[in-house]
Amino acid sequence: MEIDKPNILITGTPGVGKSYLCQRLADQLKFNWLDCSKIAKENNFIEEYDKEFDCPILDEDKLMDFMEPLMANGGNIVEYHGCDFFPERWFQAVFVVTCPNETLYDRLKERSYNEKKLTSNIQCEIFGTIWEEACESYKDDIVFKLSGATKAEAENSLKTVKNWYSMWKRK
Ligand SMILES: Nc1ncnc2c1ncn2[C@@H]1O[C@H](COP(=O)(O)OP(=O)(O)OP(=O)(O)O)[C@@H](O)[C@H]1O
Ligand SMILES: [Mg+2]
Repeated sequence: MEIDKPNILITGTPGVGKSYLCQRLADQLKFNWLDCSKIAKENNFIEEYDKEFDCPILDEDKLMDFMEPLMANGGNIVEYHGCDFFPERWFQAVFVVTCPNETLYDRLKERSYNEKKLTSNIQCEIFGTIWEEACESYKDDIVFKLSGATKAEAENSLKTVKNWYSMWKRK
């Protein structure tokens, strides 16, 4: 795939600060921000509703059909709290955002998640589930970690992605 701009995946447990970073990156790099949860909701790419965890279950095929032509253009920052179902060829870099459990707990509590949903997300972060998923789904040398803990750390994370992009352009 020959593209002028790469496609970047920003993934991580819900609440770690993906949107916070994506919004700024899209703005600063002039990339297109694709928030998969938002796209799925707006286009009804939802298979069913998980009552226990109080969350919609994504229709991955519909989402991917929608995204394919956009991804072919490059220049997308894709946000989702999972990463194992996208085609590997879509992304030139995968950044996994992480955040300390205590901080994440406070953020999710603020969203008034139910106890089950709260616990499962905190465990997901503690076990490094998304990091593992990213390492299993993409080549090691394109998977990186970012911090979404504080505003200062987010600034560093933005620099990391921008540095990666500068390197990519020089290739
Ligand atoms: N680096 C940061 N410093 C301080 N607060 C932050 C930071 N990043 C995010 N937040 C705050 O934490 C909350 C969750 O952040 P955000 O919406 O970016 O998470 P997310 O990973 O996109 O979640 P989701 O998976 O639900 O889309 C928001 O209220 C946001 O303002
Ligand atoms: Mg988000």
